[in-house]
Amino acid sequence: MTAAAARGNSSGDSATSSSVEQQRQAAATSSSDQQQRQAAATSNEDEISTAEERNESSNAENETAVDGELDVPRRNAFGHDFRDFEKESMRNAIVQECYRKNHIYQTCDFANKKKEEYGKLNKAEMSIWECCELLKDYVDESDPDLDEPQIDHLLQTAEAIRRDHPHEHWLHLTALIHDLGKVLLHPAFGEEPQWCVVGRFHSSGDTFPLGCAFDNNIVHHQFFKENPDSRNPAFNTKLGIYSENIGLDNITMSWGHDEYMYLVAKGNNTTLPPAGLFIIRFHSFYAMHRYGAYTFLMNDEDKEMLKWLQVFNKYDLYSKSKVKINQEEVKPYYLSLIKKYFPEKLKW
Ligand SMILES: [Fe+2]
Ligand SMILES: [Fe+2]
Repeated sequence: MTAAAARGNSSGDSATSSSVEQQRQAAATSSSDQQQRQAAATSNEDEISTAEERNESSNAENETAVDGELDVPRRNAFGHDFRDFEKESMRNAIVQECYRKNHIYQTCDFANKKKEEYGKLNKAEMSIWECCELLKDYVDESDPDLDEPQIDHLLQTAEAIRRDHPHEHWLHLTALIHDLGKVLLHPAFGEEPQWCVVGRFHSSGDTFPLGCAFDNNIVHHQFFKENPDSRNPAFNTKLGIYSENIGLDNITMSWGHDEYMYLVAKGNNTTLPPAGLFIIRFHSFYAMHRYGAYTFLMNDEDKEMLKWLQVFNKYDLYSKSKVKINQEEVKPYYLSLIKKYFPEKLKW
C-alpha cells in the first residue's frame, strides 16, 4: 500500500483529498521544515557524526586550496567546508529555537492529550513495510539526517545489529521500526511540527518525563523555565506526581515519535518482547540511558531492559555510513520478521 492508501482511513483529515505529489510538494516548500532540516543537519547532530566522518576530516587537514599566495585548508578541524560557516550558524539558531519550543510547550497536559489523540489509532491502516515506504517518500525531506533517507537509516541500523547479534531477531525488527513514529510529520497524520516529533537534533536529553522536575542533563535545560510545569508545585519536585521506582511504564514522557511508535506497536498487539517496546519508547530518553538520570523512577525490569537499549543506541547513532543497503536484497528477511511479530495491517 502506498501513501494514498495510508490516507484512506485518515479520519476527516484534509490530506485525504490531496494527492501524494501535492503533499510532497507542500512538504518540500514548507520553509520552516526546510529551515529545521538544515538546522538539524549541522547542529548538535554533528556531535554524533560517525567515526568515518572524523577520519575524513583528518584526511582533509592535508587537503588544501590555493588562495593567492597561501595554501589554505578547504575544511576546518571538524571537516566542515569553511564556506558553510554562515549556513551552519543559521542552522544552529533554528535548532535552538526548536528546542526552545519543545521545552516550553511539552507539558504533562500536552503530552497526555497527544497520547489520547494518537492512541485512538484512527489515522491510517497500513503494514509496517508500507510505513517504511511512506517515510522514504516523505520524511527523508525533513529528517535531521539531511543526506540520508530515513529508510537507509533504519536498514543500516537493523543490518549493523543483525551482523553483530545474528540471533536476536526481535532486535533486528526493533531497529527497523524504531523511527517509524516520524510518520507524524506526514500531512496524512496531521503534519505535526518538528519540535514535537523528532528528537535527534542533539545527542542528549531529547525526550524526558513530565509530571516531575526537569533534570539538568536534558539538553538546553534553561528553556524549561518558561514551561508552565516548572511553576506547578505538583510537578516541580524530584518525584512530582510519581513514587520512588514506580517504573517507566507509568511515566508520562514528552510527546514524540518514540511514544507514538510505542502506542502503535502495543495497540496492534505486537509480540515483540518487552525490551523491544522499551527501546522503541525510550530511545531518545538520553538523560536516562546516557547520563543515568531519573533512575529513581525505574524499577528492576527497567534496569534489565536498559542494557538492551544501550546496545541498540550504539547502532542507532553510529550506523550511518556511506554503505547503501540493498533494500530489495534484505526485504524478504524483514518481511518475515514483520509477519512473525505484527499483524499484516496495523492501525496507526
Ligand atoms: Fe528516533
Ligand atoms: Fe534512529
